[in-house]
Amino acid sequence: MPKQKTTKSRKDDHIRICLEEDVEYMKGNGFERYEFLHKALPEVDFQAIDCSTRFLGKRLGYPLFVTGITGGTEQAQKINRNIALACEALGIGFGVGSQRAMLEKPSLIKTYEVRHVAPNTLILGNIGAMQLFEYDIEKIRLMVKNIGADGLAVHLNPAQEMAQDEGDYAWSGVLQKIRNLTALVKFPVLVKEVGTGISGDVARQLALAGVKAIDVSGAGGTSWIKVDSYRSEREMDNFLEWGIPTAEALKDVVSKVKIPVMASGGIRNGIDVAKAIAMGSAVVGFALPVLKPATKSWEAVKERIEQIIFELKTAMLLVGAKNLDQLRRTKLTEKYK
Ligand SMILES: Cc1cc2nc3c(=O)[nH]c(=O)nc-3n(C[C@H](O)[C@H](O)[C@H](O)COP(=O)(O)O)c2cc1C
Repeated sequence: MPKQKTTKSRKDDHIRICLEEDVEYMKGNGFERYEFLHKALPEVDFQAIDCSTRFLGKRLGYPLFVTGITGGTEQAQKINRNIALACEALGIGFGVGSQRAMLEKPSLIKTYEVRHVAPNTLILGNIGAMQLFEYDIEKIRLMVKNIGADGLAVHLNPAQEMAQDEGDYAWSGVLQKIRNLTALVKFPVLVKEVGTGISGDVARQLALAGVKAIDVSGAGGTSWIKVDSYRSEREMDNFLEWGIPTAEALKDVVSKVKIPVMASGGIRNGIDVAKAIAMGSAVVGFALPVLKPATKSWEAVKERIEQIIFELKTAMLLVGAKNLDQLRRTKLTEKYK
């Protein structure tokens, strides 16, 4: 892997690397193994397809969620604003990136604040599980309240941390920290990975710890081991493809927990969204596909997501599903074992 050193902040590094370098897994997200049976007699009108749903107490026009990307810098402020405007216009959920920077420097709160441009949007705050050791629960509660978020996404990223020169390598006691958090805050806590996947057994532990939803964020899209390898001295070449493909993580998690599950990680089109819903996910998330559009304008973000929506609705028509409940009852066949 090429190594690059830079003095810019880590957040700017991450954005720049994701915009300029090849940061995705070579292996697929797992959905390529599954196929719908085409229905030549759909008996469905495209215009009448209803994709609305509810997630974490809020209504969504579509079962979609832009997962946490950024915050803390001027460029991040623009990115968050453009994504939030598009999410508000489409009626889908939005997560800000890690709020660690604003915990360290409260004046950075404005780079995460999007509630004024997205008054009706389901917004989730974001913090790394490791920060639960550094900051008390009251600080975390205020961090969520201060940006007017509806809940908090806590990210688990052990593989990414191992790829960083300055990473956190002490991963004992994390579940207890999550348990303490969910016991004391009133807003819902979702736990997510960052593209390496959550297994069914881990999901069960999290559900028992009071977590209200899980984003499996599996392998197949952005690889954080790859991203951090571009800026780190650590030799992680043998881990570049590490992780549970999203479809496999989703299947395992929905078989083991009753709480709502989000599928994300390598979701790049509406057919994969439809497959994820048919496999039991409540909503479907993505990050990298909106990053470049978000550096341009909110209309560019909206356009990118509208293509995904068009593909989702087309897939629904082609399997004869008028709404998400019908899509959830649609069978997928496994192409090979
Ligand atoms: C530029 C960028 C920054 C990200 N920063 C965060 C973050 O701060 N917190 C977090 O939980 N996930 C973060 N993620 C991970 C995404 O939310 C998502 O879990 C992961 O990228 C897999 O989805 P994708 O393949 O659609 O990109 C980031 C992703 C990107 C592309």
